[in-house]
Amino acid sequence: MAYGIVILAAGKGNRMKSTLPKVLHSVGGKPMVLHLVDRANDLQVRSPIIISGHEGEKLKNTLGQQEIQWVEQTEQLGTAHAVLQALPYLDKIAIYLILVGDAPLIRTETLQALGKSAEQTGIAVLTVSLNKPFGYGRIIRHVAGHVDYIVEEKDANTTEKAVSEINSGVFAIRGDLLQMLLPKIGNDNAQGEYYLTDIVTLANQAKHLVAAHRIDDETEVLGCNDKIQLSQLERVYQRRQADLLMAKGLTLADPDRIDIRGTLQTGTDCKVDINCIFEGEVCLGDNVIIEANCILRNTQIDHNTHIKANTIIENAVIGQQVNIGPFARIRPNTELADNTKVGNFVETKNAKIAQGSKVNHLSYVGDAIIGENVNIGAGTITCNYDGANKHQTVIEQGAFIGSNTALVAPVTVGAKATIGAGSTITKAVAPMTLALTRPYQTAIEGWQRPMKKK
Ligand code: UD1
Ligand code: CA
Repeated sequence: MAYGIVILAAGKGNRMKSTLPKVLHSVGGKPMVLHLVDRANDLQVRSPIIISGHEGEKLKNTLGQQEIQWVEQTEQLGTAHAVLQALPYLDKIAIYLILVGDAPLIRTETLQALGKSAEQTGIAVLTVSLNKPFGYGRIIRHVAGHVDYIVEEKDANTTEKAVSEINSGVFAIRGDLLQMLLPKIGNDNAQGEYYLTDIVTLANQAKHLVAAHRIDDETEVLGCNDKIQLSQLERVYQRRQADLLMAKGLTLADPDRIDIRGTLQTGTDCKVDINCIFEGEVCLGDNVIIEANCILRNTQIDHNTHIKANTIIENAVIGQQVNIGPFARIRPNTELADNTKVGNFVETKNAKIAQGSKVNHLSYVGDAIIGENVNIGAGTITCNYDGANKHQTVIEQGAFIGSNTALVAPVTVGAKATIGAGSTITKAVAPMTLALTRPYQTAIEGWQRPMKKK
């Protein structure tokens, strides 16, 4: 059976109090509407239809790379009017899943099940029972169980308001039924809008039974009207990610204190402590430990590596058995080979550090190539920037850089060379030599320190 998807995204979203169109606000680091485009991809629906309104351009710019059939609804006259705009693009025999752009948490399996219901009857609505159904359209069923009609809160009488089963806003409807019934929907109701929900009554009149697919998990159809609801969606989304990761074996200190804005892949026996943020694509090997308050962005970390608390890593490739942090900042294009160590208050950028090398304290290593088994003492700085251009520092294998050294790039320190502490190195240092720039120490015997005045 061929499926199509129609995403309703023309609403203004005034209550978000934002210049950004509502459906572009992010959940899990991704615009809400893109979550629905992902569902279309899961279902192998090629070009989902998005109904956009005033802010259509912003939507198009954000979703530029995706294959989408854009449909404009210039005036927001109601949900039926929105779908009506898509009529010329619909295929008679396909089943259209009609989704709400500001409800991004719907599961693929749920859409599949809803679609299956519609395959039998031609039209199905996704429902859920709520303790507080106020504000939603209510599902009124026939005795036999199919849906008789849907009534909006504002049009409902007391008996109807007492019904707890509500319309999620998500439908599956065959193309021919949409073509036949949508143009017949009027706007004679409390809000003067063209209600998509009226298609249920019209389908019944045309002798088409309307199925209801009721789900248990109401979080799947949570919508977003304001920033409070946006934060609720975010928490539900994050908890789902955490549960999926734990199901795959990740140990989390607290599943409510992790945020994944992208994808996180983990090997076996990885542990993540509280308040860590993962952005973009992060991939952990086996036995990786991430301590509290780390931010990892587009980074790959190999087996048995330990990231200590308060470390930030971005666009880096980290080897096996590496120790980083606490309080390290690993900036883009850093490559740390196996068995390296980068300690507290160290910043690296565009730096390749080979096996067994250590930068343990308070250093800046930028635009640098560091060989194997190099020891970089505390407070060492690669002076890579002359105010106009960036230059490279090369430190060959086995070199020892004394503490508080300034390496003025471009400069090379040869293999197994030693730099005396406190030096400013401006010229190449040959292998196996000691280089140091250091004023001689003077001594004044019997020196009296000043005394405090009385
Ligand atoms: C709708 C349903 C209600 C259901 C509720 C679930 C109708 C008449 N009512 O009510 O039964 O319980 O959703 O949340 O369908 N939109 C457009 N163009 C328009 C109007 C709306 O694109 O002209 C989009 C909105 O951006 C939104 C969605 O359609 O994403 C739903 O519209 P909204 O006005 O929020 O409908 P509700 O009154 O909440
Ligand atoms: Ca709504």
